[in-house]
Amino acid sequence: MRDLENKVIYQIYPKSFKDTTGSGYGDINGIIEKLDYLKELGVDYIWLSPCCKSPQHDNGYDISDYRQIDERFGTNEDYERLIQEAKKRGMKIMMDLVLNHTSNEHIWFQKALKKDEKYYDYYIWRDEPNELTSMFGGSAWTYSEEVGKYYLRLFDETQPDLNWSNEEVRNDLYDMVNYWIEKGVEGFRLDVIDLIGKEPDKLIVGKGPKFYEYLKELNHKTFSDKLLTVGECWCSSIEESYKMCNPDGLTQAFHFHYQCLAHINGDKWNRAPINLEALCQCFDQWENGYTGIEAIVMNNHDLPRMISVWLNDKEYRKESAKLLITLFGLLKGNLYIYQGEEIGMTNAYFNTIDKYKDVETFNKYKELVEKGLPEEEIMEIIQKVSRDNARIPMQWDDSDNAGFSTGKPWIDVNENYREINVKKDRNSSDGIFDYYKSIIAYRKKHYDTIETTATFRTDGTMITMEKEHFIVYANFSDKVAEIPSKEKVLFHNYKEIRENTLRPYEVIVFEK
Ligand code: GLC
Repeated sequence: MRDLENKVIYQIYPKSFKDTTGSGYGDINGIIEKLDYLKELGVDYIWLSPCCKSPQHDNGYDISDYRQIDERFGTNEDYERLIQEAKKRGMKIMMDLVLNHTSNEHIWFQKALKKDEKYYDYYIWRDEPNELTSMFGGSAWTYSEEVGKYYLRLFDETQPDLNWSNEEVRNDLYDMVNYWIEKGVEGFRLDVIDLIGKEPDKLIVGKGPKFYEYLKELNHKTFSDKLLTVGECWCSSIEESYKMCNPDGLTQAFHFHYQCLAHINGDKWNRAPINLEALCQCFDQWENGYTGIEAIVMNNHDLPRMISVWLNDKEYRKESAKLLITLFGLLKGNLYIYQGEEIGMTNAYFNTIDKYKDVETFNKYKELVEKGLPEEEIMEIIQKVSRDNARIPMQWDDSDNAGFSTGKPWIDVNENYREINVKKDRNSSDGIFDYYKSIIAYRKKHYDTIETTATFRTDGTMITMEKEHFIVYANFSDKVAEIPSKEKVLFHNYKEIRENTLRPYEVIVFEK
């Protein structure tokens, strides 16, 4: 598995990356157009959020045909061409697999609704709902008039959960995974994979008793330990990571412990200010305590932008973006970059609910309105947390719609696109893209210096990360601090260096 380490994986949210038809949706040809851009950054794998046929109630995480590319994004031929074009440039395609549930428009569910002998049992039915709740709020059970029973759906009601205890379901899914492997897909991101072993009657949802067994079967019947696989497994511990990440399971898993530091009592809608002590502890735990291949991730399509959550995305935006990639980019494992992160894109900051598109955001909005919270307060929460913060179109240049589309984008572009865009960043002498490029190039060349054990310290506003060959000072505040200086500087995010001084949001890496 070690040959799957030290990789850079770039996540594309296809709907918002690049539109070549004027439809307002990004498409696969748009991705092909930008392959050289990704190659230049130093990307090894391109992870695409789901592109299969879908009614898009959850932006493609509700799949109605696993073997058909959604026509909004292009054709199966386009997808295969993307695989080939990426390959030509030495990059691989990582597909997003949604195996926990389908769309209610999937033929399996349609047949289940008709009580088809085979497909009825592809889903989970009960006469009465229990207390299980949906990740998107409310009960996890929806009544079907047609069937006269409730079906389980841990997400939206249009996303019925598959019954993994049915062997036929599992085999159908494995066949589908192999179909894409044959087409040339070389990696998989497994959506909410830790839910497949659920036992609804016992109220067990994540990492149920059969989870590891199913994972092993999936591995053996499909990708084995040859392809790079990453599971979405919120809050998994180090012990759980060893259990799922091994040659019989996955290469790695997203645990999101860093992001969860911003949640109060596990509630992502209730935000805590940054706590550098806890952040250091978390770095220490995983960097020194986990010997598997860690998935280092700051951003994705479900998270508000880390730069907006933790740092200063206005006056010190460039410094902040560089600070984060310096710290996270010098950790061992595989580095995941989410589209737009490499130019310091920020949260969307939409201030009226009609601008948002995400089903989870709407559910939360409704819930808070019902609770009687004032509109202003609700919008403040949504501005901070909504998944749409990361889902707005990629900002390519300062032309209309940020160069994303010539049509009306499915969701508005950020108003700041004239200031923040690829073209401008790449034309400036202190661009974020170039900085990312240099961190990535360093990782590739000097991974041995990254793999050494690290110590993390904080005084409350600054973090120090020390490895055998270098030391990083990162200032998370707008206060000036004093630091010891050394001669050889590996990275820094201000135009010139000031001896013994760490300015607001400054980061500096000295060779020891
Ligand atoms: C994962 C996806 C998210 C989706 C959910 C249901 O968490 O990342 O976007 O809504 O699964 O499929």
